[in-house]
Formats: sequence, structure tokens, C-alpha cells
Amino acid sequence: MTAPKIELRGLGKIYPTPQGDVDALVDINLTVNDGEFLCIVGPSGCGKSTLLRILAGIYEETSGEIIVHKADIDRPLNSVVFQEYAIFPWRTTLDNIAFGLEMRGVPKPNRMAIARAYMEKVGLTRFADNYPNQLSGGMKQRVALARAMANDPEILLMDEPFGALDAQTREVMQEELLRIWEEDGGKTVVYITHSIDEAVMLGDRVVIMTAHPGRIKSIHPIDLPRPRTQQIRGTAEYAHIAQVIREDLSEEVDKAQAMERLES
Ligand SMILES: Nc1ncnc2c1ncn2[C@@H]1O[C@H](COP(=O)(O)OP(=O)(O)OP(=O)(O)O)[C@@H](O)[C@H]1O
Ligand SMILES: [Mg+2]
Repeated sequence: MTAPKIELRGLGKIYPTPQGDVDALVDINLTVNDGEFLCIVGPSGCGKSTLLRILAGIYEETSGEIIVHKADIDRPLNSVVFQEYAIFPWRTTLDNIAFGLEMRGVPKPNRMAIARAYMEKVGLTRFADNYPNQLSGGMKQRVALARAMANDPEILLMDEPFGALDAQTREVMQEELLRIWEEDGGKTVVYITHSIDEAVMLGDRVVIMTAHPGRIKSIHPIDLPRPRTQQIRGTAEYAHIAQVIREDLSEEVDKAQAMERLES
């Protein structure tokens, strides 16, 4: 479990804008281990989505380097799940889940069998032929999750995937994600969230980022046993680590809010 999967060395990102350069990320040094579930928390605007988009290859870093250890040339390197339900409105549940496989040229009978299996895992079999506008927010995010997993990436990148869901749906989705992740034999996951509770519930480690410009402030190992269910929230160990992280993060959130007040 200790082989590195992703190594970030002195990573920086500057956005040039008409008002001048925006320093989004500064000197990010981080190793994500193979099979690790890594959560990243930080105040709004600290650069979490920027970091995830760089990991996804959507944006390019301005400085530093990113080394990804690819294991298998036949598998896609990564799949991304965003907060917005990034599924195609003109495709049914099943066809949305099969999308990545279709793009990779997996023959139809195979891709449909794989898509059906993941549709079953996320409990959407009854909605196979529904279009996204006939699904609830939670269901849409299940489609997005199933699509990402069906694609069998080495790395799963998630940017507040359950951020738009109500609290109960969110808790159900967290358990579902953990169950599928464990069944799938431990892909490397980088998971961004605003929620400390979610980070502690899901992660092997929690990275705290500083207020803008984003740097790494601290990294907390979460030594809670797996498999984890919501019951873990009732334990003293959980309460303790969540409290430590809350205090560590609150400084940064205060700073971020002070900056916002200065700007407005
Ligand atoms: N395309 C862009 N052009 C210019 N500046 C940008 C761009 N995208 C992000 N930024 C700026 O970079 C910083 C980091 O943004 P980013 O979206 O990565 O933060 P975040 O941590 O994901 O925030 P949130 O928690 O609100 O989602 C912010 O100051 C933001 O205004
Ligand atoms: Mg973001």
C-alpha cells in the first residue's frame, strides 16, 4: 500500500487574468499512495478544484512537476466525478454508465454487461431506461459514480461529488462509494470535500490546504478501521480526529473570510 501513485513536487499554478496573475497553488508537495483514499479539505477558493483539474490533465501546472505511476496501459488513467451532475441528458442511465467504455471502443455486449453490473451496484437497475431529467439529484450522482467506476480507471478523482445532495442522501452515497471502492479492489482516490465529517468518514488521510493561495497546511492520517459505515461517527476515535482537523482547518477558514471582507 505504500508505493507512490501520484507525486507532486513543488507544484504551482498561476491563472493570468486581465486584472493580473492569480496565484492559485503554491509549492504543493504531496505523494498519493497506490490504493489510497486521500481526502482534501480547505476553505473556499483555496485551489482544491484547480489541483484536481491538474491531476485530471484538464489544466496544466505552471511550475513544478507531477509524476503519475501508470500500472497498466490497457486501463484508463483516471475518471472524474464533479459536483455538477456531468451526465448526458440525451442518454439513458444505462447508456450514460456505458459512455466511457464506448469511448474506449469496448465492444457493445461487453460494455453493456459491465455497465449493467455497475448500474446494479448503485441500485439503479429499475431506472435503466430513464433519462437524467427523470432522476433525482442523488440518482444522477449515482449514474456519474457508476460511469466513472465502470470505466475502471487507475485513479478516481472526485470534486465534491455529493456536495449538492441533502444530508441523508449524502450519507447513503458515502457508504455506497466506500462499498464499491472496496469491492473494486482499492483504486487510488483523490476526493475533495468541504465537509470534515465526510473526509474523516472516507479517507485514509486528510490533507488540509491553506486559504488562498493554496498550500498544504497539514496532513492527518485517519486510523479508523475499515470497512466503515455511518456507525463510525458514534465512536470516540472518530470524534477526536474530526475535532483535531476542525481546529486545524478553522484557522484557515477564518483567514479566507477575512480576505473576502477585505475584497468586498
Ligand atoms: N479559470 C480561472 N481563471 C482565473 N482564476 C481562477 C480560475 N479558476 C479558479 N481561479 C481562482 O483560483 C483560485 C482557486 O480556485 P479553485 O476553484 O481551485 O478553488 P476551490 O478550493 O475549488 O474553491 P471552492 O471550495 O469554492 O470550490 C480562486 O482564487 C479562483 O478565483
Ligand atoms: Mg472547487
